[in-house]
Amino acid sequence: MDVERVICMAGGTGDTSYANNSEMQKTAVSNSKHVVEDSIQALYCTSYPECLNIADLGCSSGPNTLLVIGVIIDAIHERCRQLCRPLPEFRVYLNDLPGNDFSTIFRSLAGFYDTLKEEKGLPFGTCFISGVPGSFYRRIFPRNFLDFVHSSYSVHWLSQIPQGLQDEMGESLNKGNIYIAESSPPAVFKAYLEQFQKDFSLFLKLRSEEMTCKGRMVLTLIGRRTEEPCDGWDFLAQALKKMVSEGVIQEAKLDSFDLPYYSPSAKELKDVIAAEGSFTLDRLQITELTSNTNDKKARGQMEAKCYRAVTESMLVNHFGEEIMDDLFEKVAENLEEEEHPSKEEMNHANFTFSMTKKV
Ligand SMILES: C[S@@+](CC[C@H](N)C(=O)[O-])C[C@H]1O[C@@H](n2cnc3c(N)ncnc32)[C@H](O)[C@@H]1O
Repeated sequence: MDVERVICMAGGTGDTSYANNSEMQKTAVSNSKHVVEDSIQALYCTSYPECLNIADLGCSSGPNTLLVIGVIIDAIHERCRQLCRPLPEFRVYLNDLPGNDFSTIFRSLAGFYDTLKEEKGLPFGTCFISGVPGSFYRRIFPRNFLDFVHSSYSVHWLSQIPQGLQDEMGESLNKGNIYIAESSPPAVFKAYLEQFQKDFSLFLKLRSEEMTCKGRMVLTLIGRRTEEPCDGWDFLAQALKKMVSEGVIQEAKLDSFDLPYYSPSAKELKDVIAAEGSFTLDRLQITELTSNTNDKKARGQMEAKCYRAVTESMLVNHFGEEIMDDLFEKVAENLEEEEHPSKEEMNHANFTFSMTKKV
């Protein structure tokens, strides 16, 4: 799978779009607000630049994109008010892969600028937002350029499917699974962990080149509460397996599908940050993965739509479009039947961590 080409959240603003099905990610943004505010306070306590270069990496398209930018601008606004200093000029760069629906974001910018003016009193010409298509596993900004970097629910997407998921004969080691599962041999966990370590280390190195001295970064991703490998995406794997048993999907097709995703433990994250060496970890906040409703059916439906908006492009690329409705009906049924919180939700949490670039 050419991951850079194939990962793509459902665009537009329709019923199945990411824009309309990203409540879980919105909760993560809201929960990380205080970490962003504290990081901005710290950034803005010794130097007061006239302009701030801010990037959101893996911005996707929908309400969360500008929600995050609003949180960052509010935090700086408040800090300037406390210090009786004039506001800096905000230069905001929204990054995602080239297939992202940047047009929908651009169409919403006029409304966002109006809100900044009407609700926060920021005159036009204080904030300039632009799009930066490209993978964050490559250099996407000039050297010493960014003062603040934010990314939510994006860095757990890997740059490629881990190597080492097949034996010497090219046979899948992870048959019947699409990610690390109870039945996965240890080599599968090792392959995923090594790919994450390589990718996250590269991500930090590239950002350290792009960020200014003492620049700050806040990242949120889904992490693992334990050091042991634990299942993820089981509700999707089970639905695919059911379709194999119904003869709709060939077994070999399922065996050859693996998600380019990894949920690290806090120790794995800290170890990569320490080994890479460009950043000091200032804070790690861990919050529950919660969903707002106790109505099992509504929750199952909502979560299935959310997972569909995120994974459909990858699944269509491998299995074809025609099975998607049936597949996600099965996913919704699986999610409706799960206890709340599910085992998967209990084993995972939102990790938000703030870092400072070392001098
Ligand atoms: C689940 S969405 C999160 C979007 C948004 N930050 C939010 O909180 O709602 C993950 C985003 O990361 C992007 N992404 C994944 N890998 C990427 C990469 N290598 N470079 C840039 N963006 C990437 C995806 O395209 C997707 O839009």
